[in-house]
Amino acid sequence: MRKKSTERSRRSFISNITKGVIGATIIPSIVTAKDRKRNLIELTRSQQNFSANDQVQVALIGSGGMGTADANTCITVPGVKLVAVCDLYDGRLSEAKKRWTNNDLYTTRDYLEILERKDVDAVIIATPDHWHKDISVAAMNKGKHVYCEKPMVHDITEGPAVIDAQKKNKVVFQVGSQGMSSLGNEKAKQLLKEGAIGELNYAEAFYARMSPEGAWQYPIPADASPATVDWDRYIANTTKRPFDKTRFFRWRNYRDYGTGVSGDLFVHLFSSLHFVTGSVGPNKIMATGGLRYWKDGREVPDIMLGMFDYPDTKIHPAFNLSVRVNFVDGTGGTNYLRMVGSEGSMTVEWDKVTLFKNRNIIDATDPLLKTKNVNTGKEYVYERKSMVPPEKLEYTAEEGYKGAHFDHHYNWINAIRNNGEVAENPLFGYRAAAPALLCNDSYFSNNIMHWDPENLKQINK
Ligand SMILES: NC(=O)c1ccc[n+]([C@@H]2O[C@H](COP(=O)([O-])OP(=O)(O)OC[C@H]3O[C@@H](n4cnc5c(N)ncnc54)[C@H](O)[C@@H]3O)[C@@H](O)[C@H]2O)c1
Repeated sequence: MRKKSTERSRRSFISNITKGVIGATIIPSIVTAKDRKRNLIELTRSQQNFSANDQVQVALIGSGGMGTADANTCITVPGVKLVAVCDLYDGRLSEAKKRWTNNDLYTTRDYLEILERKDVDAVIIATPDHWHKDISVAAMNKGKHVYCEKPMVHDITEGPAVIDAQKKNKVVFQVGSQGMSSLGNEKAKQLLKEGAIGELNYAEAFYARMSPEGAWQYPIPADASPATVDWDRYIANTTKRPFDKTRFFRWRNYRDYGTGVSGDLFVHLFSSLHFVTGSVGPNKIMATGGLRYWKDGREVPDIMLGMFDYPDTKIHPAFNLSVRVNFVDGTGGTNYLRMVGSEGSMTVEWDKVTLFKNRNIIDATDPLLKTKNVNTGKEYVYERKSMVPPEKLEYTAEEGYKGAHFDHHYNWINAIRNNGEVAENPLFGYRAAAPALLCNDSYFSNNIMHWDPENLKQINK
């Protein structure tokens, strides 16, 4: 079992703080403007240079919103060239030709053609979720390195195939939860290890949205038809249905293609939480929620609440996680991940960590701390820790930080060049996807789901 680490790690946190904050005498309790400045620590990132000959040729499969963002980011990594694009809607292929104007950009509707090409070293897979496993496995079997968008798989049963294909082919495979490579996550991991919040006992996360687009009512192109969309290929690995442009362009709303709010959003939180804590995942998963507002024929809830039990392990103590998504929340755009420990808490963002330290100070003037024995007249002072507001310390990314998305692509390309490791390999990606997918299973089956994250097995109780 894990040893209690608080004393040693707390000392290490304090000594790092005093070294890290210029002139700070540990965090001051009255925060002046000057102090506030001192409580801001800048997070920096250094990057290697590559030789111009070190070119990596990439193809994009799924050229919609995220695929376009991925390719645009990836080509800013020095030495990366986009050579081919695959999509099932002709409009996206013609947009790609206009956007990436190198004359030799190859475009096709058939991903298998991409995988046959000798000029493609690596592929970015940004299709709807139901294609992730099939295209990933096929790509690795053809020797291509893969950047696959989250969630790594569409169904809990699909993970082992991706893990096995990567092991067999020894290519670099990374799942696209970009927060994994962020300065914020790295800092949070270090702070937790150093005991900055003491023993972790709870984590919570929240996503709030309100707009139609935020709730997945994406625009449907006017020319969408069986002529411009390769519908048969789209449904080749799932339920056969007649052409339906809403199911194609708003795929997240339908269970054949998407994975609901938990596969879309909770999965990012699991990736970050597992990275920061070193956890392999929860063993008990419960979800509830409902379709409250966006009643447009969708098959998935627009409000979802998930609760997760993380067991005691060698790496971390037992803790609870609560996550929520609300697509009917006028505060729109709010989201956070917060981790709570016995000595403080921290909110973790990709470019910022805000740490709150509990101040265990006894206020001698507090009358509740003193009492007199009525018989003897003897006065006692209770030694209890008072609940004074925590001290705050912010770590923010340096000016000009390119962001988590760049870092994630950079790490992937770097691993391809150096035969190195990535932060989110298939095993990690599966362990992040599994609780998100089991959350859906819990919601739809109205059952508590049990999972063995160490051995990657669902347990039926
Ligand atoms: N990392 C992130 O922050 C993030 C953000 C958004 C989306 N995503 C992920 O990216 C993926 C794509 O999401 P999106 O919002 O870009 O969707 P989208 O609908 O905008 O794009 C998907 C594209 O894939 C194409 N497509 C569908 N099946 C295909 C196939 N078999 N072969 C080739 N192309 C195919 C569609 O024509 C479409 O252009 C999803 O898995 C999603 O979860 C990740």
